Amino acid sequence: MRERLVAGNWKMHGSRESCRALLDAIVAADVACAVCVPFPYLAQAAERLRGTRVAWGAQTLSEHAQGAFTGEVSAAMLGEFGCRYVLVGHSERRHLFGETDAQVAAKFAAARAAGITPILCVGETLQEREAGRTQEVVARQLDAALARGGIGDAVVAYEPVWAIGTGRTATPEQAQEVHAFLRGRLSAQTRLLYGGSVKPDNAAAIFAMPDVDGGLIGGASLVANDFIAICRAA
Ligand code: 13P
Repeated sequence: MRERLVAGNWKMHGSRESCRALLDAIVAADVACAVCVPFPYLAQAAERLRGTRVAWGAQTLSEHAQGAFTGEVSAAMLGEFGCRYVLVGHSERRHLFGETDAQVAAKFAAARAAGITPILCVGETLQEREAGRTQEVVARQLDAALARGGIGDAVVAYEPVWAIGTGRTATPEQAQEVHAFLRGRLSAQTRLLYGGSVKPDNAAAIFAMPDVDGGLIGGASLVANDFIAICRAA
């Protein structure tokens, strides 16, 4: 039986005060979940979430161990905070910041070497889906990371790019189809999350699919009651 996971990806949102309020609400609801917070709030999250059922993580990391890489944050730095998870290869990193499969794979390996569980994000664009290339794209993204020492206890998140922040979620069947394909390339133990416009009113149907083990939540993770409802649906 795979343990379920719902992780919030706050992206570049919030303030110290909104972060405090959101963490307080999630802790008070006593739901098991994870939140991936902006770097400046890592210390605040670490402090507030100690001893609770809420794990926390970062949204990216450097593939380099250390050195003259202005603005970058290493796996060792995240590890020092006790960071449990880190998102790797989110489509916004790939498309807005030009991260390549090789770079994502190096980040994946760097996280694992530091004892941080990477949440590897894969997903096709609308153009790729319409061209019938979904499986080819997610396989390429996954295989690049797997080539760096296998899956281990890493988590994989299927996030179709066309469903992110658009309100256009994949149907449960569309999600299951890709998850089943990914499952065939992974161990039976690997947790596979779905991400892309997951809301309280569609979460239960998506999470009911046999190969969907939880979700990676963007917009709805910033609204305490919505995020808590999604965690409960899982
Ligand atoms: P939304 O839930 O806002 O569509 O974002 C999904 C996502 O990118 C999570 O990483």
